[in-house]
Amino acid sequence: MTYYYKGFPQSDRDEKISMINVDELEERAKKVMPEGAYYYIASGAENEWTWRANTSAFNHYQIVPRALTDMQDPQTDTQFMGMKLKTPIMISPIACHGIAHKDAEVATQKGVAAAGALFSSSTYANKSVEDIAAVAPEAPRFFQLYLSKDWDFNKMVFDAIKKADYKGIFLTVDALVSGYREANLRTKFTYPVPLDFFTRYLGAKGEGQSVAQMYAASAQKIGPEDVARIKKESGLSVFVKGVMCAEDAYKAIGAGADGIYVTNHGGREIDGSPATIDVLPEIAKAVNHRVPIVFDSGVRRGSHVFKALALGADLVGIGRPYLYGLALGGPKGVESVIDQLNTELKIDMQLTGCKTIEDIKHAKISRIHYGLDAMPSNTDPSRMKPYPTTAENQIKSTNTDAVTGASQH
Ligand SMILES: Cc1cc2nc3c(=O)[nH]c(=O)nc-3n(C[C@H](O)[C@H](O)[C@H](O)COP(=O)(O)O)c2cc1C
Repeated sequence: MTYYYKGFPQSDRDEKISMINVDELEERAKKVMPEGAYYYIASGAENEWTWRANTSAFNHYQIVPRALTDMQDPQTDTQFMGMKLKTPIMISPIACHGIAHKDAEVATQKGVAAAGALFSSSTYANKSVEDIAAVAPEAPRFFQLYLSKDWDFNKMVFDAIKKADYKGIFLTVDALVSGYREANLRTKFTYPVPLDFFTRYLGAKGEGQSVAQMYAASAQKIGPEDVARIKKESGLSVFVKGVMCAEDAYKAIGAGADGIYVTNHGGREIDGSPATIDVLPEIAKAVNHRVPIVFDSGVRRGSHVFKALALGADLVGIGRPYLYGLALGGPKGVESVIDQLNTELKIDMQLTGCKTIEDIKHAKISRIHYGLDAMPSNTDPSRMKPYPTTAENQIKSTNTDAVTGASQH
């Protein structure tokens, strides 16, 4: 069934979604979302080179299979900042989940809690931090902060998230203004559903605001002293979200950051910035295990999660894929997306002899450039020609195994 918020259609689904991989959800989501909302999620900045490079650059690294490992039944449980998680896959903060589902972030949190993953909630969420927390009181969650120019607003946010038991803050520093996102201009996108913190502070609704207008209300001038001030006033751990080089990792740690979040905002800010996986090794070296590292942008495979962990990340975030899952299946759809990536991750763990997430951090990775970055596989549906039907290639037997015994994961 579809609900309408002032004419804007929102799904109310709550069903598992089957998929061969999470990438295919991007195309399927078009069928259940209005064009402007879909492109707000799917698009990147300018020519979207960085958006594409984020995923293709994982091919710069290869997972070396290991032999005679004497291991079975790998486990994806992990710990992060004292929180017990069932997976190292994290839900990156995304604004306005109400464009995908009527229960917005409440629905997402429900699915994430079922999967045992870490949820992070955006400053631009539709639902209140209290409502999000109430749907899964025991589940661990972080809060993403767009620092406001107005410290009374910031104070209101800190009080609310502390009361609602959020465990820490991701301070976003890579989106001081919106990247030049042409798809939003073409579709004239504005947030169609009110954003809670703006409604409660200003009485003004986020509804009807363009992305650029929303960013204008947040602080453009953020320096090391802000990290210290946020830590002091919130009493929470602060990760700096948007670190893309070793120098800035040093600066953030020097400013008192409790963690580093390596991201280029999913290719939505500077087009032409490097893919995140390519800068992760130098940042991990600079951080040298002093603080945890969160990583995201372009993650679409369990093997991508594996590579990021092996190259120094402690948690690996996904963005767009879970929002497509939310639109297509609600809470259970989000859970399906996490489960799919976890299933793929476990295959790589078994084939490399990694019993635990900690083992992945010592896995063998090679770095050879094959020049095949942007090549889809031969079985990619977008490349496949219809399969030829001949008299010889049809299955006639009643042997159901041959028909239905497809590989199950
Ligand atoms: C539709 C959309 C909205 C986003 N909103 C926020 C936000 O409110 N705050 C933030 O720090 N990052 C935001 N991001 C960036 C994500 O946290 C994350 O860095 C990015 O989506 C990861 O890339 P991926 O989508 O390729 O996985 C947003 C990303 C998307 C796609």
